[in-house]
Amino acid sequence: MTPPPGPGEPADETDRTASVVVCAASDLAPGEMIGARLGTLPIMVVRTGDGQLHGLEDRCLHQGARLSLGRLLPEAEDDAAGAHAMDDSREVVKCPWHGYEYDVRSGCAVFDRRLALRTVDVREQDDLIIASRKN
Ligand code: FES
Repeated sequence: MTPPPGPGEPADETDRTASVVVCAASDLAPGEMIGARLGTLPIMVVRTGDGQLHGLEDRCLHQGARLSLGRLLPEAEDDAAGAHAMDDSREVVKCPWHGYEYDVRSGCAVFDRRLALRTVDVREQDDLIIASRKN
């Protein structure tokens, strides 16, 4: 088996795995996340508090930690005056190693919005959660 690419390395372009069953839909409650593999690509599926599913690459852009082993949190925002507030409508996954955070809806890195994790399509079908490569 070919090891998955490391941080910053391109995906294995020969891997044509199109979709994978991640888990039973009932196994992922709001506020939970789970790691899986889509071929050689480590992925994670997040069910946000509103019940929606989001699929992201499960590999931190910093040093490659599995983000699915981190924590799901509301996003903290600082206003112009420096006041700190939590935005419960936006959720981030916090890396378990050094704390980098990513918006689970877009994959964007909170520390630099120009950087983003790859995203995958996720759907519920016949009581299963299925992740697919984006076309
Ligand atoms: S590996 Fe994720 S913040 Fe360092």
